[in-house]
Amino acid sequence: MKSLAITGSFREANVEALAVVVFKGEQATSGGLAELDSVTGGLLSSIIGSEEFKGESGETVLVRFAPTGKIRASRLLLIGGGEKSGFQAHHVEIAAGTALRAFSKQKIKSLALSPRTSLDAAAVAQAAIQGAICSTFELDKYKSADRSKQTVTTFGVHVEGAKPADLKKGLTRGEIIGDSMNFTRDLANEPPNVLTPTEMANRAAAMAKETGLKCEILDEAKMIKMGMGSLMSVSIGSEQPAKMIVMRYTPAKNSGAKGEMLALVGKGITFDTGGISLKPGEGMDAMKYDMSGGATVIGTMRAIAMLKPTVPVLGIVAAVENMPDGKASRPSDVVTAMNGKTIEILNTDAEGRLILADAVAYAEKQGATRIVDMATLTGAVIVALGDQNTGIMGNDQGLVDEIIECGKENGEGFWQLPVSKEYSKQIKSDIADIKNIGPRGKAGTIMGAVFIQEFVDKAKWAHLDIAGTAWADAAKPHAAKGPTGVAIRSLISLVERSQ
Ligand code: BES
Ligand code: MN
Ligand code: ZN
Repeated sequence: MKSLAITGSFREANVEALAVVVFKGEQATSGGLAELDSVTGGLLSSIIGSEEFKGESGETVLVRFAPTGKIRASRLLLIGGGEKSGFQAHHVEIAAGTALRAFSKQKIKSLALSPRTSLDAAAVAQAAIQGAICSTFELDKYKSADRSKQTVTTFGVHVEGAKPADLKKGLTRGEIIGDSMNFTRDLANEPPNVLTPTEMANRAAAMAKETGLKCEILDEAKMIKMGMGSLMSVSIGSEQPAKMIVMRYTPAKNSGAKGEMLALVGKGITFDTGGISLKPGEGMDAMKYDMSGGATVIGTMRAIAMLKPTVPVLGIVAAVENMPDGKASRPSDVVTAMNGKTIEILNTDAEGRLILADAVAYAEKQGATRIVDMATLTGAVIVALGDQNTGIMGNDQGLVDEIIECGKENGEGFWQLPVSKEYSKQIKSDIADIKNIGPRGKAGTIMGAVFIQEFVDKAKWAHLDIAGTAWADAAKPHAAKGPTGVAIRSLISLVERSQ
């Protein structure tokens, strides 16, 4: 998509359609609106404050008007911004996405958005283009006909009086992040017969080659040699060999604290049947997105490689398929993880924690001092938090708080659950060090976290359970239903904060 930085008069923007944010309580005479009102023959004054439109967030009105010669566009979308004082950059993303999707239905090719906020111009431009790009994602990749036609090819952001260079800087960043989110969403949406662990590794390697990241793919022989018996116990029932994807970003100049390294670790279960503890058939199709944590790591690493922060980042994805067959693990099997701990597998459907055990231990062995793992780990987190908040747990309150903060900046909710010693006792096994499930029906999300915690040694660690937030069951005005790309923006903020 072509982006435009518009710093002059909004009405002169060379586009077919304009979108403008109007806040609660504003009049058509408010700053920036009066001119639009006059060149459209009083359209704004007839709409603003009417029953239809009060500037509440979520409200939109789209109007078409006869050309007056004083304005190039012939369509206008009013977008409610809610209270002006609470309006943040992430609201600009939603406004931009809403505008693009609304005009796309009208076969418009070019549009411009005026968010009318005094927030930092670069941040506004970044948010706008991010929202625009994300709004173009559709689930129609495999449709041979009836593909939704994305018509908008030019998207402008208007910040009156801003320095064009500031807007351009924001646009460049926003393009990188928006494209990276769609990259992740495309991976998450791939059917499991296409996106096998091998294919996931190939896609990561191709991305790494394009963006200049180092990428190493560990095969099963290597993982067995390293003692990853926990991860291998999940892969053993599948015809598809597991892959450990290791992506490394090394800055030209490291400005971070000496010896510090952040690792992002993702659950990449390309399909989760449950294994011998087989899942019921109904709804099993959703388990193609059980690799969303891994896809999030790959997309975030793509953005990092292009944004070039001055701190190193390690990205690790355990890509594995969980299938039942004659070689598959049985409930009651005992396996040994890379860090020497023995695990009694009591449910082969609690497989995410089994692969993450070896993945986080590997991350620390590679020198990670801070580890953030992300996974569609438990159905219980959906019961607890629904689709509005990602569950967050960790062994270091500072790291957890920082991620929650980054979430607030980016309009992403992270809600903390406790991981105290009492919970850890509940995964003690009768015959091995630990078992992979806790007591039935109790604190399922926490049980997953305290299990993974057993494989972290000295590193600061946080665990994100994205089972409820990685997939949207319904479309929104600014985004299609399906994979959301959750956590990518917040993780980029986390990396950039440590520079
Ligand atoms: N991938 C699932 C978790 C999941 C469920 C993600 C629904 C998205 C939607 C995970 O591997 C799983 O099966 N977890 C079990 C754990 C249980 C056996 C302790 C669960 O949540 O039921
Ligand atoms: Mn499972
Ligand atoms: Zn799973």
